[in-house]
Amino acid sequence: MERTLIIVKPDGVQRGLIGQVLSRFEARGFKLAGLKLMQIPRELAERHYAEHQGKPFYEGLVSFITSGPVVVGVVEGPGAIATVRAMMGATNPANAAPGTIRGDYAVTVSYNIIHGSDGPESAQREVGLFFNANELVDYSRVTDSWVIDQ
Ligand code: RTP
Ligand code: MG
Repeated sequence: MERTLIIVKPDGVQRGLIGQVLSRFEARGFKLAGLKLMQIPRELAERHYAEHQGKPFYEGLVSFITSGPVVVGVVEGPGAIATVRAMMGATNPANAAPGTIRGDYAVTVSYNIIHGSDGPESAQREVGLFFNANELVDYSRVTDSWVIDQ
């Protein structure tokens, strides 16, 4: 079963969109394996966004993601990594299709509401950056057999 990291960014928290964002993943049939509210320390933000170091938007991105509380979650389910990315929409909300999170709630790239891991390696790395093993919970839901064919 795949697990991927999502972050409701500071703009999503400030705009009161935590519930609406998380409810989309729940409604789709995904399960939350971990969830917390936190303010990301600069050092963790720098590790998380290491791939963007040196790019023109890097400093602004790190200041933004550390500027206020975020909600960090681990979303679990079949194909979770790619499906969560598809549900987020394009990085620049101007190009994000209506029906996606960015396409429904955002208009500019700096305030695009949500982060999601972009592949299996980043998912594993990012889940490990934000969660200890004992903060992730294995459980089943009574609805699982109506969502997942196994
Ligand atoms: P994320 O990492 O947040 O899930 O977004 P992403 O994969 O769709 O986009 P990525 O290329 O990883 O960029 C990370 C975040 O940096 C900001 N950004 N700003 N001003 C710009 O040109 C620019 N490009 C990227 C966005 O907030 C993006 O989500
Ligand atoms: Mg990214």
